[in-house]
Amino acid sequence: MQTQPELRTVEQIVEQVLNAATPRIEDAVARGKISGNGYYTQKCHDFFETTYGFKKTLLTTSCTDALEMAAILLNIQPGDEVIMPSYTFVSTANAFVLRGAIIKFVDSRKDHPGMDEQAVASLITPKTKVIVVVHYAGVACDMDDIMLLAKENDLFVVEDAAQAINSYYKEKPLGGIGHLAAFSFHETKNLQCGEGGLLVINDESFIDRSEIIWEKGTNRSAFFRGEVDKYGWVDIGSSFLPSELNAAYLFAQLEQLTNIQEKRTSIWEAYREHLSEWAHRNSISLPKIPDYATNNAHMFYLVCENFEQRSNLIQHLKKNDILSVFHYLSLHNSQFYKNKHDGRELLLSEFYSERLLRLPLFYELETKKVTDILTAYEK
Ligand SMILES: Cc1ncc(COP(=O)(O)O)c(C=O)c1O
Repeated sequence: MQTQPELRTVEQIVEQVLNAATPRIEDAVARGKISGNGYYTQKCHDFFETTYGFKKTLLTTSCTDALEMAAILLNIQPGDEVIMPSYTFVSTANAFVLRGAIIKFVDSRKDHPGMDEQAVASLITPKTKVIVVVHYAGVACDMDDIMLLAKENDLFVVEDAAQAINSYYKEKPLGGIGHLAAFSFHETKNLQCGEGGLLVINDESFIDRSEIIWEKGTNRSAFFRGEVDKYGWVDIGSSFLPSELNAAYLFAQLEQLTNIQEKRTSIWEAYREHLSEWAHRNSISLPKIPDYATNNAHMFYLVCENFEQRSNLIQHLKKNDILSVFHYLSLHNSQFYKNKHDGRELLLSEFYSERLLRLPLFYELETKKVTDILTAYEK
């Protein structure tokens, strides 16, 4: 008998998600082909294309790889300028720096660690080619402003949607708005297969070349479809596609998407409910979701009053066996880029680097344990 969703216990849901992967992996092995671009890779592509209406998707071994593919597809040349937030993961920038790009970093918003959309226009020069938006914590950037700016200036938009699966901007799925987008299925993400990613191609003109870059610069995909009678080296590319084992594991997660999202959302809401008063009393801010965005419950973070308070909280939680972590160190100040940065101060990016603290948020988490311990701390 099917149990009503509201009557299922957390344990039942957890077991269901974990048990789902084994038969899919066994099936992948039984099919006799565990290298990439097989049955489960196709199943994942079909899922993303039908669920979110993405024009074309390609599984990759990471979001980093998907971003590197985007930089190749956009034909980034040495000296081209790419605009992106400073408060992001190193791969957002590295993918473009690998092709010789110069990065123009944007500051964060006052109300959110995501990038300040209003600060982008002043950074556009004749050398600018791409705006890379990062949907921090799975919360959308204000994409209408960005897409308009890109159109007026003949620029491409890449969405770094590493954390943004199943999240929306004005009812449009994130990853489906820019010319290209990249998702992560690293084990820290809502949907995961250990290491994995996805390139989304929304601009049709990139579709044919994306398959070639994905398959090490060869037209092997076209050969498999019977469109050419032999395949060979036709462009640059690399080994960007994951094995069928990863694809099968990921597919099992896709089948559990609703369960996973329900559970993460309940954890996120429990955090908000139990921490609001305490946070206010201690001058700590909780995440804000703009009206135009949905919340995919990827991350629950605190913005502390100062660096010292954050360090105290990390220690307080650690003493009670709870791991909490800060997040990005501003890229414009990094050892690698600080001498290449144009010198502008990006104070809000530094503000979040010093004050933001992520609370544990994973499928099996017991929130009450964390909130009881946290609220025992007073400044
Ligand atoms: C914004 C952002 N972009 C890219 C990545 C890289 O993802 P992956 O580990 O799948 O390469 C991350 C990793 O967490 C990220 O936070």
